[in-house]
Amino acid sequence: MYSLIAIPTLLSLGAAYAITPNNVISPAVISGALTGLKYTSVGGSGSYNQVTNMIQGAWPTCTANPSCITAPKQVSGNLAPFDEEMTAVLRGPMTLHNIAVYQPTNSSAATWKRTSNWAQGSAPDNLVFMSNSGGGVSGEWDTCGGASQAYSDGAFTGAAASANADIYGANLPGTNEVNIVTSQTCADSPCDGFARGTASHGWAGSKAFVFEFEMPQDGTSNPPAIWLLNQQVVNSAQYGCNCRGMGGSGGCGELDLFEVLNTNLNQGITEIYSFKGATGSGDGNFWPRPSGIVTYIAILDIQTDSISIQQLQSWDFTQTQITRSIVDGYLSTPAMQVSFGGSNQRRSQRPKSWMHRRTLH
Ligand SMILES: *[C@@H]1O[C@H](CO)[C@@H](O)[C@H](O)[C@H]1NC(C)=O
Repeated sequence: MYSLIAIPTLLSLGAAYAITPNNVISPAVISGALTGLKYTSVGGSGSYNQVTNMIQGAWPTCTANPSCITAPKQVSGNLAPFDEEMTAVLRGPMTLHNIAVYQPTNSSAATWKRTSNWAQGSAPDNLVFMSNSGGGVSGEWDTCGGASQAYSDGAFTGAAASANADIYGANLPGTNEVNIVTSQTCADSPCDGFARGTASHGWAGSKAFVFEFEMPQDGTSNPPAIWLLNQQVVNSAQYGCNCRGMGGSGGCGELDLFEVLNTNLNQGITEIYSFKGATGSGDGNFWPRPSGIVTYIAILDIQTDSISIQQLQSWDFTQTQITRSIVDGYLSTPAMQVSFGGSNQRRSQRPKSWMHRRTLH
């Protein structure tokens, strides 16, 4: 998939010589359409309100006040808090083809190894599809906190009793949401923050997510989206008691990679949120909603404190590692640059679509 100029001499010099990947999409011909966007100065020092407990309360109404117990968690450093464990959420209408996650063993490692992958119609490797439908056959439900995570069934529409009980299909229907986690549960080893039910670990440190998907029109105004959340958000309650916060009021990290808004079903935006505030692709800059299969990579890199989202021509999902030089190549591919630095990034409100996402059920 890559140009063959990677002679050993250059490789041995490491990150100073980024290899130019040969599978990036050339800049779009549609005015305003993006093929790449890079967030710089991502990390920061600050705190977010970490959920430390959820109090059940008495049926039928939530009698515990407060029921969502939090305490400030201080974080700092490159990428913070996006260096913490994260999950990826997918909302239909979407057709899913392939997903892979690559990670270095540390922020300066020379290779990023494939740590998780899934191909349509086959069993995932270190990747589990979840949804917020706990309380039936898996996960749990409580009066104050609503549904926890549950293992998704193969149709992406309900819960299964155990991880990867079904072979996952391809079609994620409109309004349905699933998220992916690793196969390590919080029972296997403790998770950061409050975790309940089927809570699991996400992907920590530097990481690259690659998605091959379609966003077919389903004849309604249902807007598809792909976004990353701090794993802790889903481990407590994605649409209730969680550490996400809004903009500058305490967020533990959300990155909307490709979010179609129902105000324009042909375009997608990207936004980043943390305790620092929020910024994003802004007015007039958008991903074109795909009419067929597309491939996007999102690289969250501690070493350069940056996040690069690129549309690719294709991706070889069988490759089990990528070199740091290729990662640097993607990070230095020409793209719209958005700084998340400074102290004045706060948005007055979240995108409209957030208001339309499901609330507690
Ligand atoms: C980072 O990982 C690489 C590869 O596993 C290893 O050789 C190197 O010693 C590690 N560096 C640090 C600072 O831990």
